[in-house]
Amino acid sequence: MKISRRSFLAAMAAGAASTHATALLAADLPESLKVLGKRKGLNVGNAIGGRYFSDPAYKALMARECNMLVAENEGKWQALEPRQGQYNFGPADAMYAWAREQGMLVRGHNLVWQEAKWLPKWVNEFDFGAQPSKAAEALLRKHIVTVCSHFGDAIHSYDVVNEAVDPKTGGLRANVFTERMGALEQIDLSFRLAKEHAPKAQLVYNDYMRGDEGSAKHREGVLKLLHDLKSRGTPVHALGLQSHIGSWDDVSNGSKGQREWRKFLDEVTGMGLDLLITEFDVNDRKLPADVATRDAGVAALAKDYLDVTLSYKQCKDFLLWGMADHTSWLQEWKEAPRTDGQKMRPTPFDDQLRAKPLRDAIAAAIKAAPVRS
Ligand code: G3I
Repeated sequence: MKISRRSFLAAMAAGAASTHATALLAADLPESLKVLGKRKGLNVGNAIGGRYFSDPAYKALMARECNMLVAENEGKWQALEPRQGQYNFGPADAMYAWAREQGMLVRGHNLVWQEAKWLPKWVNEFDFGAQPSKAAEALLRKHIVTVCSHFGDAIHSYDVVNEAVDPKTGGLRANVFTERMGALEQIDLSFRLAKEHAPKAQLVYNDYMRGDEGSAKHREGVLKLLHDLKSRGTPVHALGLQSHIGSWDDVSNGSKGQREWRKFLDEVTGMGLDLLITEFDVNDRKLPADVATRDAGVAALAKDYLDVTLSYKQCKDFLLWGMADHTSWLQEWKEAPRTDGQKMRPTPFDDQLRAKPLRDAIAAAIKAAPVRS
């Protein structure tokens, strides 16, 4: 059943303590992000995790704001085939069915996540036998064909390959496939298989390169990969800009970061590729603890980044990686926590689903963006 405005309000009120209901109702007053996006030809989406897929209030908020869904983890190989031949399509199927009911488009994330630690354990331990390159190709083929055939036309857009470039060197990452088939060959084959078995889907290479100085090698590596794929005739349609931004992403007017980011996006779009913001959130690790100051800082970083990135008409999708602070992966990311022990505030809604300044910044950036065809 599609969620109407009335049932959205009912779900929100039921799902929240009464002290929050007024704020939630207030959040319903401005135009939804998806309505603002539609006016510009921009899809607005969110990554929902299994844990929050059973939260009616959160889903109602997502249905109100978004016309696109991506499963945060449920579409990954580790989740779909945790043991060889034992498929677990149920959680992703349920999410995609709900998206369809809501009239949302679905992004598939992802067919192949290059870094070895994100491949299923059994894949990393696979016995490739006497003809390893053939066996590697067969295993990759079986995976992509099975997944694409299972989901069929339900998927509007696939992250075919995720994070293939090593940010430190700019070279291609190694895994059990690349070691047996060659990295470029494996990436190329993944796209060709996706094209054959999901012929209507947009096919995306997705990565987390940024505009800052420290990401120069990462940007170079991604550009090289895209050029190499294009020159081989690989069916790659777009670059996914993950956009896990933070204080290090200074792309304000006149900054070097902005120049470098534009240069990068110019080169990507110059290859005829589209762009998507696939995993947007703002890491506030370097911002002060004070909530008002922090939220304002997060909003300012977002507005700068989105003003530049959404100025490209080739960027037709904007997806959040979590809409409310408590749902964000950053709360559990041990590698770079806030040193003051405070919870992160990286998303447009707080843990009570109240809109934050970041939501205003996103709305303003969408309003300022040019219309896409
Ligand atoms: O579901 C299990 C739970 O049963 C278990 O008790 C718990 C113990 O650690 O783990 C739970 O699984 C975790 C899962 O998130 C759900 O919370 C996994 O350990 C954890 O590795 C997994 O992290 C995800 C990560 O990708 C790795 O798949 C994050 O949620 C997800 O946000 C993150 O998303 C990635 C994109 O796919 C690619 N780009 C970067 C982005 C952020 O890292």
